[in-house]
Amino acid sequence: MKVLVTGAAGFLGRHICKSLNNAGHTVIGLDVSGPPREVFSTRADICNEWINADITKVLPLMKLDAIVHLAAMAAPNLCAANPSLAFDVNAQGTSQVLRLALESGAKKFVFSSSAHVYDIPPRYFPTDEVHPLRLNNTYTTTKLLGEQLCQLYFENHSLSFTTLRLFNVYGPGQQLGYLVPDLIAKAKHGRIELQGSDITKDWVFVSDVADAFVKALSSDFVGPINVGTGIETGLGTIAQIIAGAYEVELDCHPAAIPSRMQCDRRRAERILGWCPTVDLEHGIRNTIDVAVRTMAKMSHSEVAIHTEDAKASGEVVVFEPLIEGVSR
Ligand SMILES: NC(=O)c1ccc[n+]([C@@H]2O[C@H](COP(=O)([O-])OP(=O)(O)OC[C@H]3O[C@@H](n4cnc5c(N)ncnc54)[C@H](O)[C@@H]3O)[C@@H](O)[C@H]2O)c1
Repeated sequence: MKVLVTGAAGFLGRHICKSLNNAGHTVIGLDVSGPPREVFSTRADICNEWINADITKVLPLMKLDAIVHLAAMAAPNLCAANPSLAFDVNAQGTSQVLRLALESGAKKFVFSSSAHVYDIPPRYFPTDEVHPLRLNNTYTTTKLLGEQLCQLYFENHSLSFTTLRLFNVYGPGQQLGYLVPDLIAKAKHGRIELQGSDITKDWVFVSDVADAFVKALSSDFVGPINVGTGIETGLGTIAQIIAGAYEVELDCHPAAIPSRMQCDRRRAERILGWCPTVDLEHGIRNTIDVAVRTMAKMSHSEVAIHTEDAKASGEVVVFEPLIEGVSR
């Protein structure tokens, strides 16, 4: 299939492009950002074509079989700080990409939504797709609008869509501002202090999430599917694994009001044949390994020259290898 991936330069985008490419699809990456900086691989490895474009503006016409729509203001705190931009990118931008799907002849649309639409904490655990939805903040409101827009295009134009409601994704290449990279950054400075160690979330490794997107693309199921492991793990456990790997002191404090997240993933298993394959311990160790090797490579002069050459030629950057050494 010829697949457009919006948000291709982002954390999930780079992994999903690579998985789609490995699955034999022709991948067109689209992002408003220039290619990321850490070049260890060429654009040809993950994308057959690259488009620099803003989804809130007029998008170039093209022929497509499917679209994976990831481009978004993805951090809830940034959405809260700038609601107008959040609605512009996440709702209006999604509407534009849906229109492009129609004009391009695409037959399938895969939308990245969030488990936050069930509220934090949800009313029951594990949380399935029929759980009531709640407009609890700007980010979830824009995600629910995106889901509704997909439904609108299905009702009015028969555009088939699958919404993947992602739980807490982690893995190589995630930017600061999320728990795992933040704890790794603290560990590098010799000590981890953590508030809210008893808060639980459902952590799912990025290569497993990418696999769910690949599977959703060839599914004719219309509607939402949860993507999570079904395993509830405290923030303190994640901190322990990272502190242990770096051999640094760990100082954990419970939350004033603890909350929980746990995915019911039976629909993903039944409809997509999807199951998570990377356990938390291996996923975090792999994330640390890649972070360490990336830093080592970045300081090497040959890599610096390669990076400059690649940037000049517009190559896309991926962290590589993505899942080397992870037990499956
Ligand atoms: N990472 C998670 O744990 C998680 C959980 C639930 C849902 N999601 C959703 O998955 C998607 C990808 O998340 P991510 O973690 O890779 O985020 P990310 O911030 O790393 O990537 C988002 C990408 O979208 C691009 N983008 C932003 N505005 C754009 C615009 N106007 N035009 C074109 N591109 C634009 C950014 O440049 C960035 O590369 C998002 O829709 C996010 O809401 C992520």
